[in-house]
Amino acid sequence: MSNWITEKIDAALLDAKNRLAAATAETEVEQLKISILGRNGLFPALSKEMKNLPSEERRAAGVAFNNGRQRLQEMIESALSLLRSSTSVDQTKTIDLTLPGRRPKVGRKHPVTQVRDDAIAIFRRMGFVVAKGPEIETVHHNFDALNTPEDHPSRDRGDTFYFADGRLLRTQTSPVQIRIMENQQPPIRIVAPGRCYRRDTPDATHSMNFHQIEGLYINKNVSLADLKSVLQAFARELMNVDIRLRPHFFPFTEPSVEYDFSCVMCRGKGCPVCKHSGWLEIAGAGMVDPNVLQNVGYDPEIWSGYAFGIGIERLAMIRYRINDIRLLYENDVRFLEQF
Ligand code: DAH
Repeated sequence: MSNWITEKIDAALLDAKNRLAAATAETEVEQLKISILGRNGLFPALSKEMKNLPSEERRAAGVAFNNGRQRLQEMIESALSLLRSSTSVDQTKTIDLTLPGRRPKVGRKHPVTQVRDDAIAIFRRMGFVVAKGPEIETVHHNFDALNTPEDHPSRDRGDTFYFADGRLLRTQTSPVQIRIMENQQPPIRIVAPGRCYRRDTPDATHSMNFHQIEGLYINKNVSLADLKSVLQAFARELMNVDIRLRPHFFPFTEPSVEYDFSCVMCRGKGCPVCKHSGWLEIAGAGMVDPNVLQNVGYDPEIWSGYAFGIGIERLAMIRYRINDIRLLYENDVRFLEQF
């Protein structure tokens, strides 16, 4: 039998059901629970009202009251447990097992490292041994022993990084020649790859920090023809190009030459890459100056030799058609991935 109490209970159940379905936080549910079942809530109030009912209605109302209260408690408990479980596992971010996996990025050698390693492999096959020297050098090894005049512009503070103690960041790999010769007797056949530093303003072809491969061969009766044959073999092996030697000057060699590759783009016909000359400058080289031999205590009447210094960035730029040296140092993965 229905009366106003059972109607109120039914309405409260319906209202609670809707509010619980919409609840997004446990506190909302707790508040609802207090407003209905709490000491000043709806149910205690109804309980008092029931005493005023006629006795024939009181029994039915009591049953509805008890059932309603129990039903509400159940609804509240299940709403709370749902909210608790959904905060520990975010339902919107469950794992989609059908998604393809993420590929790990595969690393590779930097283009400068690749060319360096290839160049060294070629020289090793020709009998050269890899040598090393420090990047922080003395003026003696970097300049004096290499027969560099006191007033040579490369010694300038504007061109070379000096430390307060007078040492410097090597401007070339040539000082490795001196270190090896000071500590070993001929015959010597080494290549020395490494970093060099100069106070240059960075642009498309200059960097304050770059790499060279130094070569040195000392023996009896070494001639310019020996140098030329090694440089020729190197060019053929590395890029399958012809070479040209041009007269030049270096303090530590006499005679000195500059060493060119025939242009890899146009094969010597002339194009913008070689500035229409057909040739690309690769290295300096020459016969070791007798003064240098003397500086390390070798007798120039007995020993002779050749040396060369190759720019590694230059080789990398030609091989991979890179037109700005700075790209090699920015380490943009999109650039490096191409090699
Ligand atoms: N050290 C020279 C430079 O940095 C390059 C060079 C030229 C090295 C002639 C040599 C050489 O060994 O013989 O410009």
